[in-house]
Amino acid sequence: MSAKRVLVTGGAGFIGSAVVRHLLADSEAEVLNLDALTYAANLLSLQDIADDPRYQFRRADICDAEAMQAAFADFRPDCVLHLAAESHVDRSLTGPQAFVQTNVVGTAVLLDAARNYWEQLPESEQQSFRFLHVSTDEVFGSLGDEGAFTPTTPYDPSSPYSASKAGSDHLVRAWGRSFGLPTLITNCSNNYGPRQFPEKLIPLMILNGLEGIELPVYGKGDNVRDWLYVDDHARAIWQVACGGKVGETYLVGGGAERDNLTVVKTLCALLDELAPSADIGPREGLIRFVTDRPGHDFRYAIDASATTESLGWTPQESFESGLRQTVQWYLDHQEWVEAVRTGSYRNWMEKNYAWR
Ligand code: NAD
Ligand code: TYD
Repeated sequence: MSAKRVLVTGGAGFIGSAVVRHLLADSEAEVLNLDALTYAANLLSLQDIADDPRYQFRRADICDAEAMQAAFADFRPDCVLHLAAESHVDRSLTGPQAFVQTNVVGTAVLLDAARNYWEQLPESEQQSFRFLHVSTDEVFGSLGDEGAFTPTTPYDPSSPYSASKAGSDHLVRAWGRSFGLPTLITNCSNNYGPRQFPEKLIPLMILNGLEGIELPVYGKGDNVRDWLYVDDHARAIWQVACGGKVGETYLVGGGAERDNLTVVKTLCALLDELAPSADIGPREGLIRFVTDRPGHDFRYAIDASATTESLGWTPQESFESGLRQTVQWYLDHQEWVEAVRTGSYRNWMEKNYAWR
């Protein structure tokens, strides 16, 4: 199955923009990017493909039922890749309601719009329709030193972010089991790569390191994450959408477990090599151990063997080369960085997209 009309929610975000790029480069699908353009969105990330005849953008909030019905009626997708979400754990600790609103309520609204649209389709089109929810391994909670998440690991979320994503996973499964909507879920590990908003660990450390300001490491820096290069993830999402079994859950991981202090020190070494600064000196000197995040999950690790066995997907980027490319991307895209930091891109978007 290879969908021809793909509705991507959250396509102006970090992973969504990589998915849109992947679809335009490696499939023949027409793509509708539906995004509310929150603080995390950046249309500069899509500037070079914005005029592709197979691409269109629609500004809309997934919580807006009318706007969702209209998007389905106008675009008539045969596949939905749902990525729109509030995505940052630290923000969910200071303002959890936005996470419940977008991730839980918004997903339910989107599911209803998808269901209403899907029920009107002829049977053959109903069968080939797919709704794929992009979720996180954080729904499974924290691991100790050993073991890895599998598709049957029980849910045990710790933060408002992961609880809201767990809620949205349950809703997606319920719409599948109760109403027959052909749904799939992917749960992936921590993504990194170009165009990630600099509130997440890796881009925050790169930009702080470049500026010569503190590198805040939570607790002792011994928490472990399994790092997945964003383009490997985009490829996995599309493979699951095209070849995955309806109702199944697919785990996607980078096979690159590192503790946070190791990640930060590796970034320091890369910055010292690629952007040496006599004023700043060795970046490791900027590391500061700060108060730990409340409810901080100790370790995440993914066992992606079931995904590899059923779909043949494996990550291709090694953590070392992926991290080097990522640092180089931020060095080469100061305009993107400046725009994100000053908010000028948001003013630009307001001006350019006010009519939509
Ligand atoms: P992001 O924060 O970079 O982008 C989210 C996008 O969703 C933004 O463009 C934003 O404008 C849009 N959005 C937010 N609320 C919306 C709403 N109400 N209506 C329409 N659009 C809205 O996020 P990301 O890192 O690209 O993550 C994408 C998805 O992948 C999320 O569902 C996230 O939970 C999941 N995920 C991310 C990671 C990661 O490491 N980044 C890991 C696992 C899972
Ligand atoms: P983050 O990128 O926020 O992803 P998540 O919380 O979804 O895993 O954080 C990755 C890890 O880095 C996590 O263990 C928290 C830690 N961290 C820091 O030590 N300092 C920071 O400034 C940030 C943002 C994260």
